Amino acid sequence: MNRKFGLAVVVVVLGAGAMSAARAYDSDWKRGRIYYRQICTTCHTAELKKPIAPNDRTMAEWASYLQANKHNKGKDTVSSYFSKQYRDSIKAKNPAAAKYADVPEKDLIEDVKAFVHKSAKDGDAPAGCS
Ligand code: HEC
Repeated sequence: MNRKFGLAVVVVVLGAGAMSAARAYDSDWKRGRIYYRQICTTCHTAELKKPIAPNDRTMAEWASYLQANKHNKGKDTVSSYFSKQYRDSIKAKNPAAAKYADVPEKDLIEDVKAFVHKSAKDGDAPAGCS
């Protein structure tokens, strides 16, 4: 293999790798809705006696809430409720946690983000918790 050809192969291989790494995950708001309702809302209803509706907040408020990653007045993090560890801990009693036990945490975060954006006060389809 001459040097020029070898270099071209390296460039093509690296380029393909960079392209696939850069490709954004295509979020699934329907899966986000199931996750939000069955994991997040189930606990809010149990502990707060009321759900936290997506349409209580605007898209921008949801974006900064998820970005800040401080949950329950900063006592824990939002991401902890997406972790595989958390799903494993509740999956015996929670069908959604069992169903999504092996989904990467970051994909589920994107899915819920897509759902709360769509359902926000100023979203495409504002939604409460019913
Ligand atoms: C194990 C129980 C539990 C789970 C699971 C849970 N939450 Fe919460 N959440 C709470 C409690 C308790 C509060 C505190 C509310 C208060 O005291 O006002 C809270 C508050 C919130 C608030 C209001 C602002 C704040 O942080 O105080 C938002 C928004 C929220 N949760 C989003 C979520 C999302 C999104 C998920 C799912 C990924 C989730 N929660 C999962 C228990 C839970």
